[in-house]
Amino acid sequence: MNPVKLSENVYWVGAVDWDVRDFHGYSTNRGTTYNAFLIMDEKITLIDTVKKSKKHDMIARIKEIVDPEKIDYIVVNHVEMDHSGSLPEMVDLIKPEKIICSKMGEKALLQHFHQEDWPYQIAKPGEDVSLGAKTLSFLETRMLHWPDSMFTYLVEDQILFSSDAFGEHLATSERFDDEVDQAILLEELTKYYANILTLYSPLVKKLIAKVKEMNLPIKMIAPDHGVIWRTNPGMALEAYDKWSQGKGDGNALIIYDTMWHSTEEMAKRIGSGLQDEGISHQLVNLRYNHRSDVMRDVLNASAIILGCPTLNNGLLPRMAGFLMYMRGLRPQNKIGAAFGSYGWSGESVKLLNSAMVDMKFDIIDEGLKVKYVPEDKDYVQCVELGRKVGQALKAKKSA
Ligand code: FEO
Repeated sequence: MNPVKLSENVYWVGAVDWDVRDFHGYSTNRGTTYNAFLIMDEKITLIDTVKKSKKHDMIARIKEIVDPEKIDYIVVNHVEMDHSGSLPEMVDLIKPEKIICSKMGEKALLQHFHQEDWPYQIAKPGEDVSLGAKTLSFLETRMLHWPDSMFTYLVEDQILFSSDAFGEHLATSERFDDEVDQAILLEELTKYYANILTLYSPLVKKLIAKVKEMNLPIKMIAPDHGVIWRTNPGMALEAYDKWSQGKGDGNALIIYDTMWHSTEEMAKRIGSGLQDEGISHQLVNLRYNHRSDVMRDVLNASAIILGCPTLNNGLLPRMAGFLMYMRGLRPQNKIGAAFGSYGWSGESVKLLNSAMVDMKFDIIDEGLKVKYVPEDKDYVQCVELGRKVGQALKAKKSA
């Protein structure tokens, strides 16, 4: 199996997972990669490892370059099992002189693998590690997205090994950003941020500011998933900058579930109202769209309009599940509105509004309830609601 050269004496030795379709609830329709990197120097260093089931692929790639037993250091940028699952076997094989990780990384490794006698060395910002000709420098990135997360920077080669950040779940035979379809790359970069990092946007914002302030020359960003950014790392940095500030594209997303098509018909009329105001929108039926794809579109939307009928004094289960997921991720800076049909009690709109208040959405209307099946006068109100959201979006844009 072929390793791939990033720069002189630096290689990708990770694994491609063509088959994974569910990554703890995130739909990985295009598979993923677990990236690991080998630096050949006086101290041979492995940066990150791979999921347990993929360790043979990584070992085969390392063997194309060097006997794995000759590796001196292992750097653990992040302890989550997709990057550390094979670590116990790799430690047995390599018997490393050092396992370099953050302070929280040491704790997390102990809590995962219970190995007190591993040779941990805490990586500290400002305390570089010389490998011989090359130097490793470290950046603490706590809660991006786990407490243990850190970045490693290879000073001479100007490569930032960024752990999960700037990654995508994308299985390809290509390893670099300029070798893949750019639209697919952006779609998967967006989906990754939306589902993994949205909650931590305030920290991403600080990190981007810090990286800018450090004026770190970055030739390549090498994340732990997807392609390595060698031609256009600015694309990933600029996208993260935008998303971390909660900047949407000015469009609206109508996310709904429906029982007997009444709520669906309302959604269409709300869409017409948005169209009247010149606002681009998408209708997203939760029956046909996976929550992680919906969150990708939520990230770029400026207004979220939620629709659901009332069932058993509550919401339809798909909407309830989606709301729980979205609330956990806490998208920022959205205009919100709610609608839905009902038969007798009609709690759904109130529940949708309450979830949006929790997420600090700017609710611009008390919401629209229609009994059983809408008629023309109800559709007029739906169009009105769409227009109202459209006007609010335009006012926000011009503010
Ligand atoms: Fe790719 Fe947080 O693990």
